[in-house]
Amino acid sequence: MDRIKITGGQRLEGSLPISGAKNAALPLLIATLLTSDRLTLKNVPNLADVALLARILRNHGVDHSIEGKRASPNGLMGETYHLTARDIVDTTAPYEMVSRMRASFWVLAPLLARCGQARVSLPGGCAIGTRPVDLHLLAMKQLGAEIDIDAGYVVARAKGGLRGNRIVFPKVSVGATHAALLGAALARGETVIDNAAREPEICDVAHCLIKMGALIDGIGTSTLRIQGRDRLEGATHTVLPDRIEAGTFAMAVAATGGDVVLEGARYALLDTALDALKKTGTEVTETETGLRVRRNGGSIEPISVETQPFPGFPTDLQAQFMALMTRASGTSVIRETIFENRFMHVQELARLGAEIQLHGDSATVKGVKRLTGAPVMATDLRASVSLVIAGLMADGETMINRVYHLDRGFERLEEKLSGCGAQIERLTG
Ligand code: UD1
Repeated sequence: MDRIKITGGQRLEGSLPISGAKNAALPLLIATLLTSDRLTLKNVPNLADVALLARILRNHGVDHSIEGKRASPNGLMGETYHLTARDIVDTTAPYEMVSRMRASFWVLAPLLARCGQARVSLPGGCAIGTRPVDLHLLAMKQLGAEIDIDAGYVVARAKGGLRGNRIVFPKVSVGATHAALLGAALARGETVIDNAAREPEICDVAHCLIKMGALIDGIGTSTLRIQGRDRLEGATHTVLPDRIEAGTFAMAVAATGGDVVLEGARYALLDTALDALKKTGTEVTETETGLRVRRNGGSIEPISVETQPFPGFPTDLQAQFMALMTRASGTSVIRETIFENRFMHVQELARLGAEIQLHGDSATVKGVKRLTGAPVMATDLRASVSLVIAGLMADGETMINRVYHLDRGFERLEEKLSGCGAQIERLTG
C-alpha cells in the first residue's frame, strides 16, 4: 500500500493549480442518467472517487470517454468526460460499489425519475459518523416514490416517474438537496425545496441542469423552485474549482509561513474559512488568476471556529484548520456541528506532539512550539490531508500510511506541493 513521506520545515513558495471540485464532479456525472443525450463535463479532476463513479455509471448503461488534460488560458484544465446514457440497462446499484463511496447512492433520484424504479444499496463512505439517508428517502417520497428497505437495499418505485411537490428538509443536507434537485428536474410539475443546502457545488449542478433544459429559480438560496421537464437534453459544462482543495493549500501555506498563488481559486467560494485564516495572521489577496496566500514569520494567532453548512466554516476544512492551530501561539476551540465523529485526526496529530483535548463536539487545541515527525495513519479523506499539513510543519520525517483516502479526493497532491518546495514523496508498494 502506498505511503507518503514528508520531511517538514520547508516554506511553500510559488504557485499551484486548483483542480475541479470533486463534490461537484460527482453529482454532475450522476446527472448524465437524466438524459439520453451526451453530457460533456470539462475540468473533471482525476481522482479515485471519480473513476469509481464512472465504473458504477457504466453498470447502469452509461458510455463514457475521457480526453486528457488540455491547456487553457488559465493553465491546465482537468479531464473532459463525454457521457451518454442512451439506455438505462440496469437500475440496481450493487452493494460492492455503493459501499465504497457514499455519493454513488445519489443515483437513486435520477434512476427513479427516468425509469420509475431503482434498487440502490445503502451506502458506505468515510467513517465520520452514522450518515443516514432518511432525508434522501423523504425527498423521494415527497416526489411520489414508494420506498422499501430490503436486505440492505433501498427499493424505490414511482410508476410513471416522479411528480413535483414541496419538500421541506428538517435539516440541511448537501446530498439530499442534490437528490431532490436531480429528481425534480425530470419530475412532472413544480417542486419547491425548502431548507435546501446552498453549497457552491449545488449551484454548479443547478447551472448544469439549466443547460440541460430544466427551469430552476432560487439558486444559491435555501429555497429552490424547479419546473420539471419530461425530457432533458445534452449539455457542456465546466466543473467549478475545488474550494476545499484551495482552502487546504491555503492552510498549508499559512502553516509553513509561505507565499503561494493558488491558480483558479475563488475567494467567494470560501470566504468564511479565508476570513478565519486571515485572523490567524495570514494575508489572503485576490489576484487576476486566483488567490495569493502569504504568511511571513510571526506567530500563528489562535482562532476558534465552528463548522456550519455553507456559507459557514466547512466541515471539510475542520481537520486542516486544526492542524494549523496545533502550532498557534495560544489556545483555540474547534467545534464540529455537522458530523458526530469527525475527530479521528486528533489522535494522529497527537502522535506528532499536538496537544488537543476532546469534549463532546469540541476540540480544545493548545498550540505547541514544535511538532515532531512520526509515522501516522490516514483515517478519512480530510483527516489524511490534515496530517500532510502537520507533517509539513513538523521537524524531521513524517510517514503517512494508508494514503488511498488522499487519492480519493486530492489530485496530484505530492506533485503540487513539491512544486512549491515541499519535501514530499510517495513510496509505492
Ligand atoms: C457532502 C460532501 C462532504 C461534506 C458534507 C457536508 C459530497 C460528495 N460530500 O456529504 O464532503 O462533508 O456534504 O458539507 O458532496 N444527514 C441525515 N440524513 C440524511 C443525510 C444527511 O441525517 O439523509 C446528516 C448527516 O449525517 C450529517 C448532515 O446531515 O450529519 C450533513 O450531511 P450531508 O450534507 O448530507 O453530507 P453528504 O452529502 O453526505
